[in-house]
Amino acid sequence: MSEGAGGQEMVEAATTAITSRLGSRRPSVAVVLGSGLGFFAQRIQDAVTIPYREIPGFPEPTVIGHGGELVAGRLAGKEVIAQSGRFHLYEGHDAGIAALPVRTFAALGVSTLLLTNAAGGIRRTFAQGTVMLIADHINLTFRNPLLGRVLTGEERFPDMSDPYDPRLRALAREVALDRRVSLNEGVYVQLLGPSYETPAEIRMLERLGADAVGMSTVVEVIAARARGLQCLGFSVVTNPASGISPNKLNHTEVMETARRVTGELGSLIEGIIRRL
Ligand code: HPA
Repeated sequence: MSEGAGGQEMVEAATTAITSRLGSRRPSVAVVLGSGLGFFAQRIQDAVTIPYREIPGFPEPTVIGHGGELVAGRLAGKEVIAQSGRFHLYEGHDAGIAALPVRTFAALGVSTLLLTNAAGGIRRTFAQGTVMLIADHINLTFRNPLLGRVLTGEERFPDMSDPYDPRLRALAREVALDRRVSLNEGVYVQLLGPSYETPAEIRMLERLGADAVGMSTVVEVIAARARGLQCLGFSVVTNPASGISPNKLNHTEVMETARRVTGELGSLIEGIIRRL
């Protein structure tokens, strides 16, 4: 059987290239940064920056607001690696490419994966700028990064009953309380995009039990769970979803709101990493 994009050899080639740039650094925590949230990487000390063009198999990002580099170094007493710039399905990438960085992090020895994204708020009480702790997710992309041959270190049928680790979620709630960050928990749904949803689609998603909608994260978490990584996810509600408010949606507004919330979310994530 042929290997899909993002298969074993790609993971190994990317891991080898990154390892050679890391020197003595051994990251145990990875942080995936969503649209407009790339500023977080500036918190990392003694950082080495690895542009995607130096990593075989990592495409150049095509979306404004997404960088294209990994940043590894120390944060809150831990060795971390941040992914600034994602590979989205709507850019035409296979789910295996969207999940390639996560698989590479696992191969590097990372055991905890923190993910952030920008999302539309479906829950009607979510104001613009709300930070939602992802309690669970719904995959409406109809894609899966585990299709095809089972990669080394993965399971054929991984359990998905705790996609977002309950202990990490409890820790997130504690740190949020300490730092006086208000945190709402809810269900995130990933769609393929790139067009935003219609009001009818948002009403459907609301009935399906989704609280926030976006175009990332779920396929990455699926691959991460197949490799046994513990995951924690945050959505920044950058806008009320389509039809929830009379305003039209645009990517510039999404990025501006995400940037505004970066400081608050960054402090929360830093506090969580300190207590891991
Ligand atoms: N829908 C889908 N993805 C998004 C949205 C939205 O309203 N806002 C930010 N990412």
